[in-house]
Amino acid sequence: MSNEKRVILTGFMGVGKSTVAKHLAALLDCERIDLDSVIQYNEHRTIAEIIEQEGIERFRRIETETLRQILESSAKIIALGGGAWTIEENRRLIKSRNYTTVWLESSFEHCWLNISASKRVRPLARNKSDALRLFEERQRVYCLADWHFIIKPELNSFEVAKQIAEEIFFYEFN
Ligand code: S3P
Repeated sequence: MSNEKRVILTGFMGVGKSTVAKHLAALLDCERIDLDSVIQYNEHRTIAEIIEQEGIERFRRIETETLRQILESSAKIIALGGGAWTIEENRRLIKSRNYTTVWLESSFEHCWLNISASKRVRPLARNKSDALRLFEERQRVYCLADWHFIIKPELNSFEVAKQIAEEIFFYEFN
């Protein structure tokens, strides 16, 4: 993969950003970073604990600071948490560097199925109606990403990563 180009995956909770990023990095033989994992590692607690103990504003500040750090790292693929791209400062940071942003989109039902099946606590999606409201609100911001990739329900995350590698990388990096 080209030395200068890097990719950031965004999209709603449960869409599969982290898993797709993992497959994409393996396919392209490059390093990847998961923003939420770095936050949890640095803070020695889960994202849910940070939000519950200190509130969403404080979490967003930690998220922005961590994003600033990982944008300086050598990782070529970055998976954001679902809210990171909705913060204007984060979008500015990302756009000021050489990143291609990819919005992974799937239906709300698909995201909700993954959210409710996961053991992970997502404080901003504790029930279906809150999650749906957030999902609908955020569409207009996710669509500011450079690329929009709609995940077909029949594809698994490896196949999604493969399609991104084939389609997006073909146009962007050749
Ligand atoms: C959030 C999404 C979560 C996590 C936090 C807030 C959001 O990440 O960053 O709970 O605002 O959408 P995932 O998208 O990986 O669930």
